[in-house]
Amino acid sequence: MLEIGSSDGFVLGDASVTLLAPQPDMIFEGRIALSEGSVLAREADSEGPRRSPSANGTPRMGRYREGSRVPAMTWRAPSAQEARALWSARPFRSDRTVGIVRLFNGDMWTDNPAIPALNTGKLNSDGALEPWVLRRVASVCDMSGPLSAVRVVANPPHSVSTTFVGDECLGLHVDDGAGVPIRELPFAYNRISVNVGPGDRFFVFVNLTVADMARLVDIPVVSASFSPGEADAIGQKFLSARPRYPVVRLRVRPGEAYVAPTENLLHDGQTSSSPCKHLTFTGNFHLRGWE
Ligand SMILES: [Fe+2]
Repeated sequence: MLEIGSSDGFVLGDASVTLLAPQPDMIFEGRIALSEGSVLAREADSEGPRRSPSANGTPRMGRYREGSRVPAMTWRAPSAQEARALWSARPFRSDRTVGIVRLFNGDMWTDNPAIPALNTGKLNSDGALEPWVLRRVASVCDMSGPLSAVRVVANPPHSVSTTFVGDECLGLHVDDGAGVPIRELPFAYNRISVNVGPGDRFFVFVNLTVADMARLVDIPVVSASFSPGEADAIGQKFLSARPRYPVVRLRVRPGEAYVAPTENLLHDGQTSSSPCKHLTFTGNFHLRGWE
């Protein structure tokens, strides 16, 4: 049963998206924050979104998609009740679990010569990285289904949103790369995104599935065929209808990765005071150690 709290806080029912960290030695003190809802991107970031610099180092600016929203930039720690709702002990489910794992310790910088080269801008191809990173991914995840690597993406520091289609920045959005009808989103692929850069970055998300959001804003989920942008439209309607609903911000340190059902929830990336790079794979990733 879905419920909205009296202050438009979390949905605390069984249907919400939850966090899992199967490695018991990871410490999350101060790494999870909640925003006071979402705001129009143009109001939060009046200068406009920054893209990664061109090859000659020239900064490049983009523009926000009409009506796009980003988390309100005032962050707070979750309450004890919110933390319990977020850190459910529910088993991993690829359609509604955001997982975080450490793949590399300090050895990320020495084991593979491609990493320092990548971070000093001397390496344009990530081809040398993929098999090396995938071996580590396989040590924490069962992988199945078609696997594909999204190239290394670089983002400048202090980015409020990191998702671009051409020059247009999306803000919070739902992916539709899998081409799956709304009703079949629980079976869409998920992704793992590895922080291969020198600084912390953030994965931001709303802890509701597309079906949860549709129910909460009274949109019938009947589509049996894929329609591009349909899931995202449900997410945008939810954000407009519930502008105070908290957005979760998860800090992802260098060498760590998050696993997330990005076809089935509102999400985006943000950067810290450091430039960031991440290497992403889509497929079917199931975190071990939490069955
Ligand atoms: Fe995305």
